[in-house]
Amino acid sequence: MTTMTTPVLEARDVTMRFGGLTAVRSVDFTVNEGEIVGLIGPNGAGKTTFFNCLTGLYIPTEGTVSYKGTVLPPKPHLVTKAGIARTFQNIRLFANMTVLENVLVGRHTRTKEGLWSALLRGPGFKKAEKASEERAMELLEFIGLAHKRDHLARNLPYGEQRKLEIARALASEPGLLLLDEPTAGMNPQETRATEELVFAIRDKGIAVLVIEHDMRFIFNLCDRVAVLVQGEKLVEGTSEVVQADERVIAAYLGEPFEGDPGEAEVAEVEAAEAHADAAQSTTSTKGDAQ
Ligand SMILES: Nc1ncnc2c1ncn2[C@@H]1O[C@H](COP(=O)(O)OP(=O)(O)OP(=O)(O)O)[C@@H](O)[C@H]1O
Ligand SMILES: [Mg+2]
Repeated sequence: MTTMTTPVLEARDVTMRFGGLTAVRSVDFTVNEGEIVGLIGPNGAGKTTFFNCLTGLYIPTEGTVSYKGTVLPPKPHLVTKAGIARTFQNIRLFANMTVLENVLVGRHTRTKEGLWSALLRGPGFKKAEKASEERAMELLEFIGLAHKRDHLARNLPYGEQRKLEIARALASEPGLLLLDEPTAGMNPQETRATEELVFAIRDKGIAVLVIEHDMRFIFNLCDRVAVLVQGEKLVEGTSEVVQADERVIAAYLGEPFEGDPGEAEVAEVEAAEAHADAAQSTTSTKGDAQ
């Protein structure tokens, strides 16, 4: 943990304007090898826009993005090919394809056959198919969805769709994975499992940059956290430093964390209280909270 100094991602002075609105303003940002970095900030702070600038979905108005020392062309497929994979805040899966097929599509940048061949299952694809399928199944085992390989993506519960998105992203064999709100809509158990999954991904040698509103998730997980407020990087540092920074607290005041994370926390507190009550009448209940 002491030699995390090789940059995987370097964003320099990235600005993104939409007409008169500056969604991202002069952001410098680095992710080093072996790191899990968090990107937090109130709604509308520019987090997703910044991801879109990193992945070639948007061409930044100013600034450059480099991956392992090379400036990236602002084209999503070339960014993926270079080694950056992502998931989306709004899940993007092929709803009517199976779980396995979704992962296979994610592999197309790493096979010679290309997307259409993969989708149409032409002769070239068939040859490469076996190896690809084995790799895809490994990934499904890794995320715990191997038993659902033949289910249609649209029939998966929400939490599993988010996991499948991660598997699809990993199928492109990235060196850096960007996750945009991976635990949105998850219950506390699923969130904790996702935490473990992200650690496991990092242990495979893949750096991770993650946007989340769930502060507990972020501060448990990340080696470093950057705070974006109104498009600007306000603070950056370890979880401890960021948590203690009054500017961060001020930035969130009057901006309660929206939706599920808050609800999940309330549910967790209620569950803990119920446990405490139960523990008074029975013996130990520990273990359920894992
Ligand atoms: N394509 C676009 N055209 C115009 N404005 C945009 C576009 N995309 C984002 N914005 C604006 O840029 C600002 C930042 O939005 P962004 O989605 O990046 O925020 P965010 O930090 O991801 O918020 P959230 O936490 O709610 O997902 C917002 O004011 C948004 O309305
Ligand atoms: Mg967003």
